[in-house]
Amino acid sequence: MCGIIGYTGNKPAAPVLTKGLHALEYRGYDSAGIAVCGSEIVTVKAVGRISALEEKLRGRDLPEVCGIGHTRWATHGCPTEINCHPHLSYGGKFAIVHNGIIDNCRNLRVLCENRGISLKSDTDSELIAHLLEWEYRGDPLACLSRVAADLRGSFALGVLCADFPSDIYAAKMRSPLIIGLGEDMACISSDGTAMPKEVTSLIVLADGQVARVRPGSAEVFFRGRRVEPERVKCSSPEIAAALSGFPHYMLKEMYEQPEALARTVTEDCLGRPYLRRNVTLIGCGSSYHAALASKPLVERITGCSAEVCLASEFIYSEKTVGRGKQAVFLSQSGETADTIAAAEEAKRRGYLTLAVSNVHSSTLTRVCDEKFCTRAGPEISVATTKGFTTQVGALGVLASRNDEIAAALKELPFAAEKALAVEVGEVAKLIAKSVNPFFIGRKADYGAALEGALKLKEISYISALGIAAGELKHGSISLIEKGTPVVVVSTDEALGEKTLLSMATVRARGGTVIAVTNIDEVAQAADFVLPLPNVHPLLSAAVSVIPLQRLAYEAALLLGKDIDKPRNLAKSVTVE
Ligand code: G6P
Repeated sequence: MCGIIGYTGNKPAAPVLTKGLHALEYRGYDSAGIAVCGSEIVTVKAVGRISALEEKLRGRDLPEVCGIGHTRWATHGCPTEINCHPHLSYGGKFAIVHNGIIDNCRNLRVLCENRGISLKSDTDSELIAHLLEWEYRGDPLACLSRVAADLRGSFALGVLCADFPSDIYAAKMRSPLIIGLGEDMACISSDGTAMPKEVTSLIVLADGQVARVRPGSAEVFFRGRRVEPERVKCSSPEIAAALSGFPHYMLKEMYEQPEALARTVTEDCLGRPYLRRNVTLIGCGSSYHAALASKPLVERITGCSAEVCLASEFIYSEKTVGRGKQAVFLSQSGETADTIAAAEEAKRRGYLTLAVSNVHSSTLTRVCDEKFCTRAGPEISVATTKGFTTQVGALGVLASRNDEIAAALKELPFAAEKALAVEVGEVAKLIAKSVNPFFIGRKADYGAALEGALKLKEISYISALGIAAGELKHGSISLIEKGTPVVVVSTDEALGEKTLLSMATVRARGGTVIAVTNIDEVAQAADFVLPLPNVHPLLSAAVSVIPLQRLAYEAALLLGKDIDKPRNLAKSVTVE
């Protein structure tokens, strides 16, 4: 999705910026632009590839040594030059690049219009430039702090001010932004891959922080006070780049989900396999949960009941005849021994086999008759995140001959981006202290609930219980006592009544209900709410799981666990 780069130093900025933009290409984009700052700010933008931007820059004399750049993946407004970043303020004093989504943009738009500022683009980002100029009293950092405090949603911002031509100002809230420092130079970027090689140390901005970045130095502020941020020496540049400034691969990969989903759901349709009438979905661990979460979707599309089976159990089922049936194997790695053994057994029984894997030339894709590749990119964290969400997206693609699903799929990356902004801190504290937290849900929410419980078990070692909401009353309810947290995943309005009943049952026994929901009535009846954006209930697990991943992550962090290397676990289990 969108990428940000900024540079200030002693070389002309434009070539450094376009090089950085190339490094950000993998995030996906549809237009790009730069702004450089001298006595005034000059912007150059182009729709399409960065080569189109470079074409426009050819022959231009731009000696300025400070600038910002952006790759845009359209959200508010089409990919046009006017919507492309950087955006200039009404008087040309400020230029900004923005990554994220401003939730209160409608109100801010009215505010600007009431002030007589006419807006040029359809973007939420342009507003920020105007607000900065309106608030400006000679100190860009102070006005950025004020404006940032009024923004709701997620943002990483790079800002130029014409009065301070060698400064870059930065602000961050829920979208990644790192500062790189080297001798006589500094830069900002969405991730480490775009950092120039002169960078010798990194500062990872935290939510709510703003910064003034000058060649060789950066000052960071939080709520108006100067803070001393931690500097990470880049003695091992590859590691710093690979982690892109994130403290853990798990967090980095969570943030990669919108773009991983976007890549997966736009995977080339030509010659793509499709779902047949009798489908069995098979996988292990999170891949099994993705299968469970996708069962209602597969049934809607095929019009037949679908089976979901653990790979390690499939081989023991009575010798069913596979002829005329399809077995779909889900595996992020494509190397899980149980899944491969099940695929070999399915072939022996005559099933048509289809591998859904993130590794294009894995053993599983070679064993199966057909393959569909998720495009999550390499997943390093043992606890899978983007592996799961892209599997749900992939099954959506396989089912997308239904128009309603095809339209809903296009919305998934945006919804995932919004879900990343859900604040889980308070609930994480509660969960980290708890003994037997429950995760419950029905239909697609059932798969998401199981995945939420598994994430927590994997990295925090808390004994979480994932269970179908309807099953709670058949035994496990005996474990609920005063304060037991029960996380209720609820995205299907049609099941709202039943969900409310489950919640009432829990509360009657003193349990604390945490609703992960986009349904108002459910939210109102909960003790805590992790609000979800709207999403099609048959694809919702790709979005509802995101706050659950974050919850597990934050709880494990509070407990001081080794998040990327959880005890006893392997990324790919190659023994049966
Ligand atoms: C291991 C991992 C799990 C993963 C499962 C299936 O157990 O620790 O996180 O879900 O394998 O992996 P796969 O690569 O087949 O999706």
